[in-house]
Amino acid sequence: MDVLGLDIGGSGIKGALVNVTTGSLSSDRYRLPTPEEARPDDVAQTISKIVKHFSYKGVIGVGFPAVVHHGVAYSAANIDKSWIGTDVSKLLTQDTGCKSYVLNDADAAGLAEMEFGIGRKFKKGVAILLTVGTGIGSAVFIDGKLFPNTELGHLEIRGKDAERRASDATKSRKKWTWDEWAMRFQEVISTYERLFSPDVFIIGGGASKYFSEYEKFLRSRAEIVPAQLLNQAGLVGAAIYAHRSDSLLKSSKNQKKA
Ligand code: BGC
Repeated sequence: MDVLGLDIGGSGIKGALVNVTTGSLSSDRYRLPTPEEARPDDVAQTISKIVKHFSYKGVIGVGFPAVVHHGVAYSAANIDKSWIGTDVSKLLTQDTGCKSYVLNDADAAGLAEMEFGIGRKFKKGVAILLTVGTGIGSAVFIDGKLFPNTELGHLEIRGKDAERRASDATKSRKKWTWDEWAMRFQEVISTYERLFSPDVFIIGGGASKYFSEYEKFLRSRAEIVPAQLLNQAGLVGAAIYAHRSDSLLKSSKNQKKA
């Protein structure tokens, strides 16, 4: 079965049909630029265009770069502040005409990696997936189960958010090489290690495809591995999440009827 997964990123919004049994894409990815300032109505319009592009009618899953609690956004680090308090699921359902299930973007990427990527090897213990892109996103799994909305990118390190110290956006702004960036990222990894003693750090997001450039500079008691699904993880995870949430909702409605 195919479900449309979408991922809202700092520079682009991507969508693709995802086979939710295998985690593979059943269509090409379609990407539109993220509207400037990323305000709710503009982003919703862009999402509608992507849904139309696929002539799609089913449920959609959306990875969103903020704290998302029961469909409502509660933070806005790299998007317009007017998102805070917005019921994102409701807004997107209204605009697209498709029932929308929304979750944090890093949580979405983590779900996909744990189910179809490198995370399959780390179903026991604590796994931390970090997406390194415009911000630093985090998804924490305990024995394969997600602890949502952890927002480790906003943990302060020497008075500054981890993501301001070592995101991919900071690397580009400062024109750092990978080894210069890795020195800063090492401090982030060491801080998380001290606090959470994970078994593995999975490095995802834009930085995952350059893993071989910087892996030699990173040290941890935990294993450090690159994500396998690369930039696809977010939309794959969002589609899985939508499919599962919808099936759960339907089965609980059926139980009530019986
Ligand atoms: C946001 C997170 C998001 C991450 C990656 C951070 O700035 O607070 O919610 O997961 O960026 O997009």
